[in-house]
Amino acid sequence: MAHIEVRDLRMQYGDQLIQEHVSFSVPPGTIFAVMGGSGCGKSTLLRHMVGLQEPAAGDVLLDGQGYWCEMDAKDKQAARQRFGMLFQRGALWSTLSVADNVRVPLELHWRARDEAEREQRVRDVLEWVGLADQVDAPVHGLSGGQVKRAGLARAIVAEPEVIFLDEPSAGLDPVTSLRMDELILSLRDRTGASVVLVSHERDSLFRIADDSIFLDAESRRPLAQGRPADMRHDEGLPLAVRNFLQRKDDQA
Ligand SMILES: Nc1ncnc2c1ncn2[C@@H]1O[C@H](COP(=O)(O)OP(=O)(O)OP(=O)(O)O)[C@@H](O)[C@H]1O
Ligand SMILES: [Mg+2]
Repeated sequence: MAHIEVRDLRMQYGDQLIQEHVSFSVPPGTIFAVMGGSGCGKSTLLRHMVGLQEPAAGDVLLDGQGYWCEMDAKDKQAARQRFGMLFQRGALWSTLSVADNVRVPLELHWRARDEAEREQRVRDVLEWVGLADQVDAPVHGLSGGQVKRAGLARAIVAEPEVIFLDEPSAGLDPVTSLRMDELILSLRDRTGASVVLVSHERDSLFRIADDSIFLDAESRRPLAQGRPADMRHDEGLPLAVRNFLQRKDDQA
């Protein structure tokens, strides 16, 4: 299983600095959370980790090999096959059916396997996320929670070793959000994959995250790192981190 590491990463859009000095390690089987206020660079960090954006400095290492400084095009393609991603806005094709969306990664990465095996995999994954009865439904008719689960199915269908989930439970009601947490935990336990997720949902972070980093929008650097459930009562943390982890529910 993959060990992913971010080493002294600096992220920019043109001249605009988003974050710098970002370093952390995600050993296999870890659920790692990226936390911070809106606009601090969480989605940008995920895009750097999956190789969609090039760092201004620093690197992302997969099993010790630098994605940008050491890998050639072939290595990069092999690396990307080990990743699956749920984008913040779903990024599903709304006019296509659920199954057609979920099939896409298999057509890229499972070409060597026969079609019957690919189809079985699509059905199995959709059953696992609880969408067995929506296989042929167009995505635009799904509820918010169903779209998230379809996106999760697409992220995991090709059996990635690292799964990136950008706000998997944002906008979901508490019961649906709990179901998403259970899916993420069972995925990790069943496959041994690691999960890197962006979340604002404190209850979810306390329940499932083994480790985390907090990115600060003001200083544009990480402010804290650790297991969210341990950090929540730590009065020694910077105020921005405490505010994020200790907000009352009615202020969330
Ligand atoms: N393609 C882009 N070009 C230029 N600036 C961008 C681009 N994408 C994002 N940004 C800027 O970079 C900063 C970080 O954006 P990002 O989407 O990573 O934040 P985020 O932490 O995921 O926020 P949210 O919690 O709202 O999803 C923001 O100021 C945003 O406006
Ligand atoms: Mg985002």
